[in-house]
Amino acid sequence: MASSRVVGLDIGTSAVRAAEVAFGGGGPAGGNGTFERFGQVDLPPGAVRDGEVVEQAVVSHALKQLWQQAGFSTKDVVLGVGNQRVVVREMELPWMPLPQLKASLPYQVQELIPVAGGDALLDFYPTGEATTDRGRTVRGLLVAAQRDTVAANVLAAESAGLKPTMVDLNAFALVRALARGGVGESTVALVDIGARVTNVVISARGVPVLVRMIPTGGQHITDAVATSMSITAHEAEGLKREVGLQFQAPPGAESAGEAIAAIGRQLVESIRNTFVYYAGNHPGAGIEGVLLTGGGAHLPGLGQYLSSSSRIPVALGDALQGLRLGKSLDRSRLAGIESLVAMPVGLAHGVAA
Ligand SMILES: Nc1ncnc2c1ncn2[C@@H]1O[C@H](COP(=O)(O)OP(=O)(O)OP(=O)(O)O)[C@@H](O)[C@H]1O
Ligand SMILES: [Mg+2]
Repeated sequence: MASSRVVGLDIGTSAVRAAEVAFGGGGPAGGNGTFERFGQVDLPPGAVRDGEVVEQAVVSHALKQLWQQAGFSTKDVVLGVGNQRVVVREMELPWMPLPQLKASLPYQVQELIPVAGGDALLDFYPTGEATTDRGRTVRGLLVAAQRDTVAANVLAAESAGLKPTMVDLNAFALVRALARGGVGESTVALVDIGARVTNVVISARGVPVLVRMIPTGGQHITDAVATSMSITAHEAEGLKREVGLQFQAPPGAESAGEAIAAIGRQLVESIRNTFVYYAGNHPGAGIEGVLLTGGGAHLPGLGQYLSSSSRIPVALGDALQGLRLGKSLDRSRLAGIESLVAMPVGLAHGVAA
């Protein structure tokens, strides 16, 4: 089979980011692809809200710019979704062949999820089987997304001349990008801290077993700093990065320090609660490490704080590790943004899943 190429497209609140991956002979099913190109274009505030395209023309323009700048060789894209309106729940259902099970989802889940039947896109991602006193069952993750939350992003891509071939959950993309090598053998928490959304996914031996979307990100911290100091968002952003999350802010920056700590600790607490919930439901299978991605992960002090409050080692996720890099890829341009590459690279690998 001829080689094929696909671009993983992450439409975030603050930027659009895309990664082109080439799959060799055997196509996507042949295994790991080669990371060929990456690009990102900033978005103005308000164009995307909570992971959902609001101003289609603005996003479409940014996407056209992105394709021009990065020189992607295909318009086939895998689009990511993941915000508060996408619900992911662990479920155990009576065993059925997967196609039948998927067809039965609207009836199985009616009462479990807050998305009205006809407006919901439903999918089921099996993670294991069991034999219980009620017979054979299949465990897995139910993904329910509101149709219009996905449609807005698809439309923005299409109006930029792109061809969305698949829509995938951001959290699953993180697992594909980061749960490789040794990480793929263990139980890890992957946490992407964006501008408005934090995605948490627990990966056990490379399989996503728990997903949570927390509606807080780095922009909420910036907003709090701006309000507390009565300064512009731009000034607040700089101050936030300088002060970080620490016990004692430097003299003169006390109220910024307090604002950062208030939101930052609340976010860390939400992340930690997800770990506690996981541990409660999976006794014995402890989380061995946390990998952070997304811009918000760079807040000084945040990783240390999460590590000391959860007592789990925390590191920045590097999506380039274990990935074949194409000759045309300028590695130096990716220095420092390895953690932002994870989402689009993982999305591109979605075609192989
Ligand atoms: N060095 C840094 N220190 C602190 N925060 C940072 C740093 N660099 C980036 N950020 C924060 O990262 C956030 C943006 O992260 P990212 O680009 O991953 O979000 P996004 O993908 O656009 O948004 P979302 O995923 O929520 O839709 C911003 O809030 C920004 O303040
Ligand atoms: Mg993001």
